[in-house]
Amino acid sequence: MKIKSIKGVKDILPGEIEKWQWTESVAHQIFTRYGFNEIRLPIFEDTNLFKRSIGDTTDIVEKEMYTFRDKGDNDLTLRPEGTASVVRSYIEHNMHGQNPLTKLYYFGPMFRYERPQAGRLRQFYQIGVEAMGSQSPAVDAEVITMLIEFFKALGLNDLELQINSLGCKNCRPQYRETLKAAIEPHLNELCTNCNQRYKRNPLRVLDCKVPQDVKIAKGLPKIKDHLCAQCEEDFAQVRRFLDAVHTAYTVNDQIVRGLDYYNKTTFEVISKTGLGSQNAVCGGGRYDSLVEDFDGPPTPCFGFALGMERLISLLPEEKLQSLSTPPDLYLVSLGEEAQNLAFATAHQLRAVGLYVERGFEDGSMKSQMRKANKLASRFALIVGDDEIKNQRYLLKNMDGGEQWEVSANALAEEVLEHLKSLD
Ligand code: HAM
Repeated sequence: MKIKSIKGVKDILPGEIEKWQWTESVAHQIFTRYGFNEIRLPIFEDTNLFKRSIGDTTDIVEKEMYTFRDKGDNDLTLRPEGTASVVRSYIEHNMHGQNPLTKLYYFGPMFRYERPQAGRLRQFYQIGVEAMGSQSPAVDAEVITMLIEFFKALGLNDLELQINSLGCKNCRPQYRETLKAAIEPHLNELCTNCNQRYKRNPLRVLDCKVPQDVKIAKGLPKIKDHLCAQCEEDFAQVRRFLDAVHTAYTVNDQIVRGLDYYNKTTFEVISKTGLGSQNAVCGGGRYDSLVEDFDGPPTPCFGFALGMERLISLLPEEKLQSLSTPPDLYLVSLGEEAQNLAFATAHQLRAVGLYVERGFEDGSMKSQMRKANKLASRFALIVGDDEIKNQRYLLKNMDGGEQWEVSANALAEEVLEHLKSLD
């Protein structure tokens, strides 16, 4: 019986992986400029960490977690997101004592039991960023700006940043009641999901995708009209900072996010053209009480996570052409002696930093040169019986056709010199 990969779980193959490596390296580069450091987190955690942070009534916790008991009867969950783990780690390692503002980013797989479709997987990758320890609206704007700079560096200029404010513990409870009262007369027109949400998390009614519900949601009270003075001022500040660096955005009061820990600024980045129905490339926002909820010190935070698969599918072709690295040199060895010598020769050339390819089966000059061509190798080094006898090998430029004799005794140095002369 052939074993296949699990539904909603993908291999990332050579040919595709170069895009991932490049994207990650651009993330390292840009995030470092803003003072963020990488953190590597475990793939699984205590189930309670996710239940308590993401929220018991969210889709993720109710329906989508990969939860299991290990052989020691521990209740564990494959992480559906990274923020909860960062908060756990932040408290566990006393990071607040080391730095007033802790700036972290992470990269890795997340797991959600969702219905797989284009852009929606059960194992997917995120790059996430968390800035922990400041309630300044400038942090919100700086982190969002960093994200937009990252998109620009990848050549992605066609994305839409949508922002909202969800209020805080002073103004949201009141809004929640106002919203509930406004939803109540529509309950029999709303979907069954929204009837559930109404009781437990009425704000989620605002981002239901059922067309009839979308229409009703448009007429419901808006959070922006119910923010307290502080939230209103903070949100205005975020927008002023974004304006100051010409970061374009639209305010979308339907953005409520699918995780419970958010307050104040929330945002999503949407692709209007490339992604179909799963069009959110990135989501995030402020979560000011999560660290305290886990018995840490008061630590207002702001962060985001972007979906790698969705991002990679949007990368412009012209940025990708130069991503794969061709070999510097292909070793063409003719005859048994040359084949045996190829092992040490390849080792010697790789030791000075060259990318060397070779074949392991005996083949004609023609077939080996064809292989070198197929790999787009810059040079071929030809070694046959005569070359071994004379201790002089033939180095051929695969592009221009020039060739040089190089001495077997100073092989690495002479090959390097010729390669450099063409750079
Ligand atoms: P999230 O909105 O659940 O937020 O996920 C962030 C991004 O991950 C989404 O915008 C999407 O691109 C991608 N994503 C989510 N689910 C899937 C899936 N099933 N398949 C493919 N891609 C997916 C969070 O996870 C928060 N932790 C973000 C955050 C960090 N907020 C503050 N800090």
